[in-house]
This record gives sequence, C-alpha cells and structure tokens, in this order.
Amino acid sequence: MRARWSTALILVVACRGEPSPPAIQVPAPWSDAWLLQEGQRYFGDAATRRAALEASLTNPENLYSRQRLGSYALGDRGWDLLPVWNPRSVAVSAALAATLERGEEPTLPPDQRPLWDGVRPTTMAGWVALGRRVFLEYPMRAEVFMEYGLTRPEFAAAVGVERTGDGSVPGLVVFANIDGETRVGITCAICHATVKDGALVIGAARRTFDYGRLRVTYDEVHHTRVDPEQVRRMGRWGPGRADVTEDDDEDPVTIPDLWGLRAQRWLTQAGTIRQDSPLALAIRQETQLIDSNHQRVRPPRELAWALAMFVYSLTPPARATAPENAPKVAQGAAVFAAHCRRCHSNAAYGGPPIAATTIGTDPRLATGGGRGTGSYRAPPLLAVRDGAPYLHQGAVSSLAELLDPARLEASYTAGRLGPGPITGHPAGTGLSDTDREALLAFLATL
Ligand code: HEC
Ligand code: HEC
Repeated sequence: MRARWSTALILVVACRGEPSPPAIQVPAPWSDAWLLQEGQRYFGDAATRRAALEASLTNPENLYSRQRLGSYALGDRGWDLLPVWNPRSVAVSAALAATLERGEEPTLPPDQRPLWDGVRPTTMAGWVALGRRVFLEYPMRAEVFMEYGLTRPEFAAAVGVERTGDGSVPGLVVFANIDGETRVGITCAICHATVKDGALVIGAARRTFDYGRLRVTYDEVHHTRVDPEQVRRMGRWGPGRADVTEDDDEDPVTIPDLWGLRAQRWLTQAGTIRQDSPLALAIRQETQLIDSNHQRVRPPRELAWALAMFVYSLTPPARATAPENAPKVAQGAAVFAAHCRRCHSNAAYGGPPIAATTIGTDPRLATGGGRGTGSYRAPPLLAVRDGAPYLHQGAVSSLAELLDPARLEASYTAGRLGPGPITGHPAGTGLSDTDREALLAFLATL
C-alpha cells in the first residue's frame, strides 16, 4: 500500500516533467507524522479496520483470532453495536485507599467528569498525554479481588499491589460502571507499571504482581466455589506471570516490558499479532478493552488510538554506562553481532518469530489453541538487564543462567520453575568465559 503510493507520486511528477522532487513528503513509516496519518485510516471506516484486523492476525485459527474475526468491525453487527463508554474514573490516591482499607464502599466525587473531554487531539504530544490517562485510568473491569486486597494492605503489598512514594496505588481506579454502581477496577498499569524508589516507572512489567495468588486467596477467604484444578494452576503462576489465554491448557507467560514496540513487527510472546501498521496495536487495545469489560461496552476509538500512541512513546529509564568498561562492551557488541543479531535484528534488538521447534523452548504456548502461532518472536532486549525472569514463560532467572550450558542438562536442578533442564535458546551457551563476560557487559548497556 505505502510503497505503491509513493511510487504513484513519483510517476505523477515524472509525467509532468518537473525537474525537482515535489514538495509533498511521504512520511517515513513509524515516524510521528506517519502515525498521525495512519490514525486517519483507523478512524475512517469499518472496512479499513476489518482489513487491518485480518492482516494483523498471524494465525486466524486460534481462539484469540476467531473471537475477533467473529465480532470486530462488522458494521451492522458484533462489537460495533456496543455502547461507547467514556467512563467516570479516578486513580486510587492515598486518601481513597485509606477509605477502602477501612472497608468503606468506594465512592466517586459527584462532579467527577468522564475520562475524555470528547476533543480529538491533533498532535502526537496530545495523543500521548491522553493515552497516559487511559493507561492509568480506563477501567479494564471491576475486580473484587482488588477490593478485598485493599482491605488487607500487607497482603496486597505481598502480591504486588504496589504504592508510590505518595501512597497512591497505580493500576487501581474507582469508577462508575454502566449499571450505575461504583466499583474498584484495574487498569493497564497494574501489570505494565512498577514502582522503583517510590517513583512510578510506566512500561516496566510489574514482576511482583501475583494475580494467581490474589485470586486463590480471595476464593479461600470467601469460600467461593471454584474448580480445584483452576485453583491449583493459578497458585503455580507465581509473581509476574499470568495465563491470559482463553483455553484450558496451562501456559502462563511473563508480563513483558513495553519498550521499543514501534520497532517490533510481531507482538506478544507467540507473535500472535503482526504489526505492519499501528492499526494492529490500536485494534488490539480496542478489542482488549472490549473483551476485558465483558463485551458490554466499547471504548471511544480515540482512546484506543491514544493508548497505542502512548505505548509507542515509552522508553526505558536512562542508564549510566561506565566509560572504563568501553573495550569490554565493544567486544561484547561483536559477540552479539556474531551470535545473536541474526534473530534479534531490529532497532529494539527484537525480531521475527522463530518456529518453536527451532528455538526449542517450552512449546506449550506456541502450540496452544489460545494464542498459538507455532512460533515465538525474538523479544526486544531494551533494558534486558532489568528484565528477569527471561523467556516467554519466565523460566530463566538471570542472563548468566541463559548463557550457562549447564541449564540444558537433564541433571539441572536450579531452575526457578522446578528441577529439570531449561530447554531451548542454546545461542550463547558455547561461548568462552571472556566472550560471555563481554556479552553480559554489552547486554547491560541496552
Ligand atoms: C493482568 C495483567 C495485564 C494487564 C492488566 C494488561 N496486560 Fe498487557 N500483557 C500482559 C501479558 C501477560 C502479556 C503477554 C501476552 C502474550 O504474550 O500473549 C501482555 C502483552 C502486552 C502487549 C504486547 C507486548 C509485546 O511485547 O508484544 C502490549 C502492547 C500490552 N500488553 C499492552 C497492554 C495495555 C495497553 C493494557 C491496558 C489496556 C494491558 N496491556 C493490560 C499482562 C497484562
Ligand atoms: C535463532 C534465533 C535466535 C538467536 C540466534 C538468539 N535469540 Fe534470543 N531469543 C530468540 C527467541 C525466539 C526468543 C524467545 C524465546 C521464548 O521466549 O521462548 C529469544 C529470547 C531471548 C531472551 C529473553 C528475553 C526476555 O525478555 O525474556 C534473551 C535475553 C535473548 N534472547 C538474548 C539472546 C542473546 C544474548 C543471543 C546471542 C547469544 C540470542 N538471544 C540469540 C531468538 C534468538
């Protein structure tokens, strides 16, 4: 599409016989200007969105794809008919948390305005600012487990319901639902933001968040009748992992950092979504907000688009590099170029999907019916030093362990998910000690 358009422009110019290139600039793919232009396509019509959805589904047969193909951008049926929901919602501040801790019913100020003022931004900065609010304040759903957690602050802290220096609880909101009730809800920030030295780092995975344990404890305390098999499974997720697939098999994945996603052509660990244009991410976010809110409402599309623009704006916190390390880092860069770059090939050091049988890691997510594609994408490696545990299921505790050949042995017992080998991704396990040290020094600079 894009390529054809720019060729067409050149042809028009050539026919007119003009000597110099035209003033019309075709914005470079993934530049801010291009993204703003793509936004017009997303807002344009259902047929465009439908085509973008279809183009973005790597495997149309898995549950994730089938659900969206059956409901999204069908015009006169499916999710297009849902009411558009611009919620009244406030982030849980220290003061609000204190009332909830006492077991009081959640309340909203009566004059609380809806999240969005209804004015479509025109600049990237405007979209990003709106997207930040969506990320922190748009409810994904009401969550009784969280309401319970807030009445038990020590327990909440133990399952990763973190607080910033000022006592607010990022990722939790109080909001009015469409039935007129005021509830506690979760937002993107409960999984994709973390607190470091009292400050919020948006985009860093909340690796302390133990959703499985929160739910299991809630069910025990409230004697909720749940399938014992499901309880057993959720209890084994551990912090930083969740099974977000809809099927019954057990394939929890780690919550990923959201760094460098503009450079990534495949999204999610199994590469479930092909990202040829930002419409892919906007549609992912639109359908995620629909699905998580039990398919009863849909967000204004402006808010899904803003969310995508905000995600693209996220960069890891700055890191200092020690200059005395420079020769070692340079040696490590050469090792990376020789052993890693062919797969971790893009600007964020991620890359295309690799067949699960080739990479050799636990195949269950890749072959599962939920989001499976048969493959795992090479994940971005920005701020990878702070990104443990590693691999899609979080099997590896450190970069040193990833590069340690001992983990591949049948006799290996030190794995964080239990005894036995941590199979797959053998790259780097055959390096000399000096090359391995150099590679680790280089990875620490990403
Ligand atoms: C309960 C925790 C949780 C919540 C809440 C959550 N996510 Fe995620 N997110 C995950 C997990 C786990 C994955 C990995 C899924 C996979 O690989 O299949 C993920 C993947 C992603 C990805 C793909 C990243 C990549 O590297 O390809 C994006 C983008 C994303 N989430 C954005 C969001 C946004 C925006 C929201 C709010 C609307 C949100 N998430 C809410 C847990 C969560
Ligand atoms: C054959 C392609 C390929 C090569 C070569 C390769 N990788 Fe990977 N890498 C992948 C894939 C695919 C994954 C995801 C596997 C999974 O999650 O199951 C991955 C995952 C990773 C992860 C985990 C990141 C995270 O967030 O969990 C790290 C770290 C990593 N690779 C570093 C390296 C380094 C360092 C090298 C070179 C020594 C290297 N890779 C070589 C394909 C490759």
